[in-house]
Amino acid sequence: MKKIASICCIGAGYVGGPTMSVIANKCPHIKVTVVDINEKRIKQWNQDDVSKLPVYESGLPEIVKETRGRNLFFSTAIDEAIDEADMIFISVNTPTKTYGKGKGLAADLKYIELCARNIARVAKTDKIVVEKSTLPVRTAEAIKSILHNTGNHVNFEILSNPEFLAEGTAIDDLLDADRVLIGGDDTPSGKEAKNLLSSIYENWLPKERILQTNVWSSELSKLVANAFLAQRVSSINSISALCEKTDANIDEVANAIGYDSRIGPKFLKSSVGFGGSCFQKDILNLVYIAKTFGLNEVADYWEQVIIMNNYQKTRFSDHMISTMFNTVAGKKIVFYGWAFKKDTNDTRESAAIHVADLLMEEQANIVVYDPQVSEERIYMDMDYLGTRSEAENRNLLTVTSDYMEATKDAHAIAILTEWDEFKTYDWAQIHKNMLKPAFVFDGRRILDTKHMKDLGFDFYKIGES
Ligand code: UDX
Ligand code: ADP
Repeated sequence: MKKIASICCIGAGYVGGPTMSVIANKCPHIKVTVVDINEKRIKQWNQDDVSKLPVYESGLPEIVKETRGRNLFFSTAIDEAIDEADMIFISVNTPTKTYGKGKGLAADLKYIELCARNIARVAKTDKIVVEKSTLPVRTAEAIKSILHNTGNHVNFEILSNPEFLAEGTAIDDLLDADRVLIGGDDTPSGKEAKNLLSSIYENWLPKERILQTNVWSSELSKLVANAFLAQRVSSINSISALCEKTDANIDEVANAIGYDSRIGPKFLKSSVGFGGSCFQKDILNLVYIAKTFGLNEVADYWEQVIIMNNYQKTRFSDHMISTMFNTVAGKKIVFYGWAFKKDTNDTRESAAIHVADLLMEEQANIVVYDPQVSEERIYMDMDYLGTRSEAENRNLLTVTSDYMEATKDAHAIAILTEWDEFKTYDWAQIHKNMLKPAFVFDGRRILDTKHMKDLGFDFYKIGES
């Protein structure tokens, strides 16, 4: 079996950056180069101050500090890195299509295709190409077809190696992965490629956690894992609505069902709705794939997970409006949190974006505080929706770095992300700062109801009557 001496990863994002940092850290004998077309991003990965990396992830700065310049490199020299590498990871973004066939459902594979063409143009020696991005089934086939038809007599072996890390815990998830999935052909060269990729992970993971499958199983497993996880969140959120109408408490219900070992305790936390770059996109892909095979009942079944998630976000903002005497126009509403979950600076599909949008439709004045998300990112999220002009977004929404100052004369606070620091704030002082009645809407169930009521707040917690 030949050896892997050099790896290149195309895409220095939330997946490529942390994953390659861990691989380089654990495999000092392999040169790992992470490349990206985005010069600003590469500059950020290369800056001396590792606390300002483009991806905020616990444990990542230490790993980058230890490994960067040793056998981990970040660069915009894409062609050189491809040329040098024995193994190329594709880790670029695959957003939902905003045009043409499959619009709003299918993944847009244009970035993947550009990568494949780039590899085909540059490669002079045999390569193993590993697809790492979240992809719909059959992408490996598309990549294979592009690579094999460009004809510079190079052998390409295509593997699928889906990423299962969750943001906020990415480093732990990588270092102690439940499983690594490697999909590839069952030909002798396909098996060799799978074993070579497996040998990289074996540097720190037990072999029995590395599963080898065919390409289809690997690609589909990624979509199905995310669909099942999202389904759990939508399931518990659907019950949270019922709890609000009764005296049942959603955490007590979740705890009780989680004790059943067949159900298990994880992923039963009711919230204002799931976000992130994967859940919605992967389910939409599943729906699209099912529809293309004429499996409409299957498509409808999974689509319901998204419908429930949208319902939860709308339900939360509608409740805010009705509680605040059916009008929020001109009222100052402070958002604690903008990221789609705690411990990340990623905001893709964050519930906060949709809740803000609905409240801004009612002319509310939103003031956002998030410990890690930049003002630039927040405005990008709002502008991307296209609901109103950029000027209007800046008029109705402001961003602050002072969570306490923001509460002065505020009518309400909405908790959209479960950052730990929100629990330790001086809520008595916040109550004093706010107009009365002082409303707090806890979309993440992080504050104690009795304590908040004792302080005098009009307190609403998702999943409680
Ligand atoms: C997910 C998968 O967990 C991961 O395996 C895959 O590789 C990528 O997609 P991620 O989106 O980073 O990871 O975060 P995750 O922890 O799964 O949370 C997704 C969303 O669900 C977040 O908005 C989170 O707040 C929400 N969630 C999660 C809940 O509302 N309740 C829960 O109990 C769990
Ligand atoms: P993910 O969460 O999947 O990592 P991101 O959007 O964070 O997604 O990162 C994807 C990265 O891929 C971006 O930094 C983007 O600039 C990069 N990228 C997209 N297309 C190409 C390409 N053809 N060549 C190099 N980099 C690319």
